[in-house]
Amino acid sequence: MCGIVGYLGPLEAAPVLLSELRCLEYRGYDSAGVAVIEDGQLVVMKSAGKLSNLETLLTKTKPAAKVGIGHTRWATHGVPNDQNAHPHMDNTGNIAVVHNGIIENHEDLRNELEAAGYHFNSDTDTEVVAHLVSQEYAKDKDILKSILRAVKRLDGIYALGIVCQAHPDKIYAVNHHYSLSVGLGKHENFLASDSMAVRQYTNQILKLEMSEVAEITADGVRLFDFEGTEVHRKAATMDGSPYVIDKAGFKHFLLKEIHEQPHVLRRTLGKYLSHSGRLTLDASHNGDVPSYGFRMTDTEIKGIDRVHIVACGTAYHAGMVGKYLIEELVGIPCDVEIASEIRGRKLLVNESTLTVAVSQSGETADTIAALQEAKKRGSFTAGITNRPDSHLGQITPNLIVSECGLEVSVAATKTYVAQLVCFYLLAIHLAEVRNAITPERARQLKVTLGTIPALQEQILAKEQDIREASLKYADAHDVVFIGRGLNYPTALEGALKLKELSYIHASGYAAGELKHGPIAVLDASVPVVCIVVPGAVYEKTLSNAQEARARAAKMIAVAVEGDEQVAKMFDTVLSIPAVDEFFSPLLTVLPLQLMSYSVADYLGKDVDQPRNLAKSVTVE
Ligand code: G6P
Repeated sequence: MCGIVGYLGPLEAAPVLLSELRCLEYRGYDSAGVAVIEDGQLVVMKSAGKLSNLETLLTKTKPAAKVGIGHTRWATHGVPNDQNAHPHMDNTGNIAVVHNGIIENHEDLRNELEAAGYHFNSDTDTEVVAHLVSQEYAKDKDILKSILRAVKRLDGIYALGIVCQAHPDKIYAVNHHYSLSVGLGKHENFLASDSMAVRQYTNQILKLEMSEVAEITADGVRLFDFEGTEVHRKAATMDGSPYVIDKAGFKHFLLKEIHEQPHVLRRTLGKYLSHSGRLTLDASHNGDVPSYGFRMTDTEIKGIDRVHIVACGTAYHAGMVGKYLIEELVGIPCDVEIASEIRGRKLLVNESTLTVAVSQSGETADTIAALQEAKKRGSFTAGITNRPDSHLGQITPNLIVSECGLEVSVAATKTYVAQLVCFYLLAIHLAEVRNAITPERARQLKVTLGTIPALQEQILAKEQDIREASLKYADAHDVVFIGRGLNYPTALEGALKLKELSYIHASGYAAGELKHGPIAVLDASVPVVCIVVPGAVYEKTLSNAQEARARAAKMIAVAVEGDEQVAKMFDTVLSIPAVDEFFSPLLTVLPLQLMSYSVADYLGKDVDQPRNLAKSVTVE
């Protein structure tokens, strides 16, 4: 949520800042801007809307500058317009600030600064930082000390990038709770909220830790804690090649990412499961070099009596499936909670709980806070993420990493299915260690998991049919999704995808709950999507579908191929290959992803960057 970048070196700063911002646009696209120092003069250029607007502006103005900071915004305080776009300047035009996070005491600070004669040009909380630093700078003209004095006055969690016209050879980065990485080049240095954005230039990365300030010049970086004491830390070498952002011939990143799912599953399974069927969750034992892994010892695993899952958005839906899997295989209670709902409450975890945070980005503020709170209360912690280099990766010793590669589209697809696979692996691992399942059952589970990618391919091959079937419902204003058991989370995820991508209102319900209220909204104009797969809840789900059908709703099923009962009852069937109900969430979500994509594309929506959203939500 909001991305910060910076550059100093021999290159023209503006194109470098733009290329860094391109990698961070997933964090928000309400506006973008840069502050550069051109011929000793601090110049701010910014524009509401997507990064392409800023790009047009910079192409026209072509600032000749070798130093600058930049920002891409997801609006919190103040509407997304040019005025509220970052960077924000102080009244003397000497200081420019970009910001990620929220300054919680901004109103008090604004009142105080206004009373002292400072004039505000925006509705943002960020602008107080520019004026505060400026106020401090007036005292002794020491920019580092001014920043250190100013941050002491800020409440909340935040990251900042700061440039000062009087010090054109430096940029400053402040991290209080967030991710900020400095990329070290040869006589040039880079700054970004996500190391991925600097990885295109260098693999030497210095991550700022909690409450640190970096003073960056073209030839070096000095780190300080908030007391001004210098901190010494070596840069780390980032493994792997830089991410390639490429649609590979698909019309949208989203469609490409939906199609990548079988490949992603094979890669994730291949990483943790050997040919002989041995499951090793500690990736560092598998010959590759990552410094992460799932490191709970067998004794520790045997000692837990409960699992607590925390997550937001799509990752929360994955967590809901995780609960079913863990309770079924491991036989211990498992709760799943929306991470933001843990705030202000007593979190009931202890030394015999394993708290699992699920987060694609590993940066979601509420999820990180929930895991930290669990840690404080003595719980074991683990993370399921696509980004081992994230904040989540730093705060837990137990990490299961999905092999998705970069997910560019803001709506999560391949990372959801990969999170599900991680939960299957985690549940099997915990069950094996605790002898909760027989070796034969464990073997069967692993074998069946290995068959899933090919089944997914069969669904993806029917993309065109699914599109045609889905477009019949593209004029709906309201869609209801229902499912039971393992596919209740699928119903929630299906509804979320449709909302996010097409802006059509959609709600997901546990099928059995339909009659307790939601059924009142049904009539011939409201399509009902029902996930119904043979297994323990098949008949009951069909009964719930009948109840909806009796209210004249148009009925769409996600069901296995050749199911005659379903064919008779539903107007449209999006079919999946026959699958054991236990594994069905890995398949049933695919037709729903394709349905949401097709409808959104048909309606001309911004599929990869839906309005108002951001991929990584770093505010609480
Ligand atoms: C945002 C994204 C969602 C995502 C959620 C949690 O809202 O738009 O797609 O599911 O954050 O993100 P995380 O990175 O923690 O999985």
